[in-house]
Amino acid sequence: MPKLATLPKLAIDARGVDKWFGEGEARTRALANVSMQARYGEMLLIVGPSGSGKTTLLSVISGILRPDGGDVVVDGVDLWKQPNDAIADFRLNRIGFVFQDYHLFPRLTTAENVAIPLILKRRPWDEAMTEARKYLDIVGLGNRAGIAPVKLSGGEQQRVAIARAVVSQPDILIFDEPTASLDGDTGRSIIDFVKHQVLSDTRCIVIVTHDSRIFDYADRILRMEDGQLKGIEMGGGE
Ligand SMILES: Nc1ncnc2c1ncn2[C@@H]1O[C@H](COP(=O)(O)OP(=O)(O)OP(=O)(O)O)[C@@H](O)[C@H]1O
Ligand SMILES: [Mg+2]
Repeated sequence: MPKLATLPKLAIDARGVDKWFGEGEARTRALANVSMQARYGEMLLIVGPSGSGKTTLLSVISGILRPDGGDVVVDGVDLWKQPNDAIADFRLNRIGFVFQDYHLFPRLTTAENVAIPLILKRRPWDEAMTEARKYLDIVGLGNRAGIAPVKLSGGEQQRVAIARAVVSQPDILIFDEPTASLDGDTGRSIIDFVKHQVLSDTRCIVIVTHDSRIFDYADRILRMEDGQLKGIEMGGGE
């Protein structure tokens, strides 16, 4: 019997997600009944104007921000119905997140910042630092391992944040504007690395971006407007 073609497995299945911020007149609906799916083996892009809810959506599907309605199902498990420590485990073990504003720890060195996920996963210190330096090399910052992140440029801090997100090889990578501070060549080489060395059949990458250079690498592109998903198009899949 011929084998049936199977779709890659669903990583994230967000169903009818709602999120409100503020009170009274300031109350805004940041996410309005948003449903989206991301599959393993796929690089999915989310684009849309400022304030349309992109960061909010990433936070909800990563276990960072609890939605007011709807479900986020990860590998068949309803994430927000789990106890808080299971959600924290999910963030630590499954998710690599690059924040729009980097969130590096100023009192740690660059290498220590990258090593954090490994330390939290109880890997021995020396081993974690060696691995962190390896990833700093990959993002072109091997010579910056010992200095404080405040002494780095915005683009360099962004690359440290990317190294930290991938160092523990999580299977779901969530990047919020990962190339916003990078020049053309650096941005392209980082995304090229992420697409060709980090993405695999068992990993899924979701990227929010305004950067049209990344569009060529995407498998699918979702468009957000006013807290709603407005359409899906195919990316270049390069
Ligand atoms: N912590 C918060 N408190 C109050 N309102 C918030 C909060 N976070 C987001 N919002 C509001 O929710 C809406 C969506 O914000 P969000 O940060 O998700 O947009 P975005 O698409 O990521 O924008 P940008 O491209 O500028 O990063 C905006 O109206 C914003 O003001
Ligand atoms: Mg944002």
